[in-house]
Amino acid sequence: MKQLIQKLTDTFSPSGYESAIRAVIRAEVEPLADEIRVDALGNLIVRKAPAEKNENNGSPRKIMIAAHMDEIGVIATHIDSKGFVRFTAIGGVYPRNLPGGRVRFFNGTPGVIGMEPVDKPGDTQPLEKCYIDVGASSDKNHPIKIGDVAAFERPFLDMGDRLVAKSMDDRIGCVVAIEALRALKSTPHDVYFVFTTQEEVGTRGAETSAYGIDPDLGFSIDVTGWGDTPAQKGLQMDLGKGPAIKIKDGGMLSDPRIVNWMIRTADQAKLPYQREVLLGGTTDARAMQLVRSGVPVGCISIPCRYVHTPSEMVDFNDVQNAVRLITALLSNPIEL
Ligand code: CO
Ligand code: ZN
Repeated sequence: MKQLIQKLTDTFSPSGYESAIRAVIRAEVEPLADEIRVDALGNLIVRKAPAEKNENNGSPRKIMIAAHMDEIGVIATHIDSKGFVRFTAIGGVYPRNLPGGRVRFFNGTPGVIGMEPVDKPGDTQPLEKCYIDVGASSDKNHPIKIGDVAAFERPFLDMGDRLVAKSMDDRIGCVVAIEALRALKSTPHDVYFVFTTQEEVGTRGAETSAYGIDPDLGFSIDVTGWGDTPAQKGLQMDLGKGPAIKIKDGGMLSDPRIVNWMIRTADQAKLPYQREVLLGGTTDARAMQLVRSGVPVGCISIPCRYVHTPSEMVDFNDVQNAVRLITALLSNPIEL
C-alpha cells in the first residue's frame, strides 16, 4: 500500500486538471469495478454492484463514498519584465508556507517560490507579494504563460509509521477508497466510490456527482487536522490513535444516524477511532448532504499534520484502520 501512496502523491493534478491522477486511479480500480465512468466534471465513478442474494430483498441502499483526487496548486497571473511569475491560489494556499518551496508547471517547468522583503520583521506577506522564479531573466521567450497551472513539488518520505508527502490531502483518502474496494469481497449495497474533482475550490465535483448518483446515504474520506504537536490548539486529534469519525466541521453536521452506524461498526470490529469536531474547513460530504432534497452523510477522516503544506504527514496505522472500518461498513446490512 505504501507504493500506491507514493504513486498517487507523486502525481501532479491541481483542481480542474485531474486527468493525470484520474488515469493513475482508473488503472487501479478498473479490474475491481462492476461499472466505471467519468462524468462531465471529470469525476471518476466506480460502482460495486450488490450481491445477487442480499438481506435487503432486492432494494439495496445506494451508498456514495467520495474521496477527492485534486490537490491545491497555483496559477500564473502575470509575468514581469524580469521574468518573475506572479500567481494566485488554486485552493487553500497560505503565504507563510511558501518561501523556498518548489513548484512544477504542467509543461514540466520547475520553479522556486520567493517573497518580497517585509517592511517590519514579523510581518506576514499576502500572496501578491510572492512570486515564482523559473530561472528566466526577462519576459522574452518565457516558458510560462498567464493561466499556466503548477502544483507543489516534494518527494514522498517513508518514516516507518509516519508517511510524508505533498497532496496527502486527499490522495490518502483515494488510497483508502481503492484499498477498501479491493478488500470488499461482496456487499449487500449498491456502492459508488467517487474520486471527485475540484474539492479544494469548493467541493464542486462532489456536488454534480452526488446529483447524478442520487444516493440514499453517503460519506466522504478526507484528511482532518491535528492537535498533537507543540502548542497546537483547537482540535483533539492524535496521529496513530485511529481514523476519525466526523461529528462536525466548519461546513457540516454529520447525520447522527451515520455517526452511530460508524461507531457501532468500529466497536464491533474492535477498530480504534477518534471522535472529530473540526472548527474550520469542510469536505465533499457537505456538498453530498445538500444535493437534491438532502442526503444523510458522515465522514471518515485521516488525521494529518501540516495540512496544505508540501509536507503533509499521516500515520500508516490510521490509514490501514480506515480501510478496515470502511470495508466493515460496506460489508454488512445497515440499520440506521
Ligand atoms: Co484540502
Ligand atoms: Zn481534502
